[in-house]
Amino acid sequence: MKGFDIPDKVIYVCTGSKCKKKGGKDLAKMFRSMIKDMGLQNTVEVIKTECTDRCDFAPVMSMQPDNAWLHHVTEAQARQAFQEHIISSDKP
Ligand code: FES
Repeated sequence: MKGFDIPDKVIYVCTGSKCKKKGGKDLAKMFRSMIKDMGLQNTVEVIKTECTDRCDFAPVMSMQPDNAWLHHVTEAQARQAFQEHIISSDKP
């Protein structure tokens, strides 16, 4: 049985219908493969969420614990935020 593991950092990507269409699904996929490539599977987790009621800003996502929320996210912005809030951030 898998233990109740808690990641250090979490990327929540909205994959509700609007965000999914606007690239949310691809963002989640991209983050998962980056995490795998960097061997961070045990510390960083990607969680796809349902609609977060911000459809006008699709695609939206957040990175925790930095509480960095992004909207109208492009792939380049997503990569930059990953660097800033997941790789470089000293929280926790
Ligand atoms: S589908 Fe993402 S905020 Fe509604």
